[in-house]
Amino acid sequence: MKRLIVAIDGPSGSGKSTLGKRLARRLGYQYIDTGAMYRAVAWRALQAGIDLDDADAVTRLAGDLRIELESRPDGVGVRVDGRDVTEAIRTPAVAQGASRVSAIPAVRRVLVRIQQELGRRGGIVMDGRDIGTVVFSHAEIKVYLDASEEERARRRCAEDAARGVSTDMAATRQAIQERDRRDKTREDSPLRCADDAYYLDSTGLTIDEVLARIEALVEQRRGKSCSRD
Ligand code: DC
Repeated sequence: MKRLIVAIDGPSGSGKSTLGKRLARRLGYQYIDTGAMYRAVAWRALQAGIDLDDADAVTRLAGDLRIELESRPDGVGVRVDGRDVTEAIRTPAVAQGASRVSAIPAVRRVLVRIQQELGRRGGIVMDGRDIGTVVFSHAEIKVYLDASEEERARRRCAEDAARGVSTDMAATRQAIQERDRRDKTREDSPLRCADDAYYLDSTGLTIDEVLARIEALVEQRRGKSCSRD
């Protein structure tokens, strides 16, 4: 059976990574979290004391980094130059930093090239902000996963609590607003729903319900691609 490219885009906290991981497992595909790559660049820049507005310095750093994403039984591990940063890149400061460095076009060019190479042979579920619009604009399946701001803030707080980090709901919501605004209004590859994407508002839906709808979509498209082969 043809190994497809599944592109999942949407704002932060919409459930993309939970859906992506589970869908990839069901399909036997590789899951790629592109947000982790922008986070890796931001984490390294913050660590090196580089000003995130210094586009040249951040771009040089992005070009020199060795970012590895590895499947683990409990999720996805992230290594930067051999160092395990899986947890370190999940802080609010790195999230905001990732949103800032992702607005630098040359940084995007470096990471998009790596993402396209990773998905070249298909059989991947890739999530991010520009996967269906830029990275794989020809992806067979495109999903735009959305949810209300309140629900996304609630989910983020619950995720933090599960990791033993206590976060304030109002602050989380404000951080989400700030990232949404930056990610949707930047000039290069802003977050938007591709014209041919399946838009799904997951507010009030469980992850199982979301997964069931997307699996049905995959089955439908797979059927179509088989009949063409
Ligand atoms: O999905 P995430 O929260 O880990 O992403 C962190 C930031 O990275 C997000 O605010 C915007 C940026 N990003 C992007 O611009 N393009 C992508 N494909 C993925 C993430």
